[in-house]
Amino acid sequence: MSRRPVVAGNWKMHGTSAAATALAQDILRAIGRLRRVDIILCPPFTALPAVARVVKRRRVALGAQDCHWAEQGAFTGEVSVPMLQELGATHCIIGHSERRRDCGETDAAVARKVQAVVAHGLTPIVCVGETLQERDAGRTLEVVGAQLTAGLQPVTPEQAPRLIVAYEPVWAIGTGRNATPAQAQEVHACLRQRLAARFTPAIARQIRIQYGGSVKPDNSAELIAQPDVDGFLVGGASLDAAQFAAIIRAAAGVPAPATT
Ligand code: PGA
Repeated sequence: MSRRPVVAGNWKMHGTSAAATALAQDILRAIGRLRRVDIILCPPFTALPAVARVVKRRRVALGAQDCHWAEQGAFTGEVSVPMLQELGATHCIIGHSERRRDCGETDAAVARKVQAVVAHGLTPIVCVGETLQERDAGRTLEVVGAQLTAGLQPVTPEQAPRLIVAYEPVWAIGTGRNATPAQAQEVHACLRQRLAARFTPAIARQIRIQYGGSVKPDNSAELIAQPDVDGFLVGGASLDAAQFAAIIRAAAGVPAPATT
């Protein structure tokens, strides 16, 4: 079956509301009317309302970069799923490696967050990925497989088809060193096998698996050509409207416009 490609821009901690508004407007202008791809913009929490205003009436979705698992409570500094939903977010990145590394986020925390996101009808983008040390030790498939199994533990078969999984090798994030198409395909195929075992092969065929880590216009076409690569989670290049649009066009299989 052919899965609809999905490209998300993870803006990380970049952008005041004013800057985010300008970037979102530039991106919409640069992509024009592309129909064959789902697009998600994930600005910082504070810029969600500003970006929501820009993407309203366009087929571009809004995502957050994290959430808390509780509805509300004594959790200083945290943001809950209903709060994100109120701002128009339909997606939420969960378990990004920067949060696992810098905030001590564990697989158990990822699972609780995934549960909260799906319970409210939002779509989690569940991130998995190995470190360079783990890859060099030949442990890549074991590590990402365990992260996937743990993170999706609370998801029911009914909720599963709309999940998005993002494979992001830690050594490729923000380093300019992307996984080769063959490396990405090997991991994506393994993740899909895990999904088939956890749910059913039919459900696994519906779940989209993004690749993330130094995705750029010049490597996106060969990555998306892999049978199990269904889109991208883009960091740095998503902050540049022209680059992000070029990646989206590659994912949609649309040739770049002729330059004059
Ligand atoms: P990068 O980040 O594209 O800047 O490597 C990807 C990510 O962290 O989601």
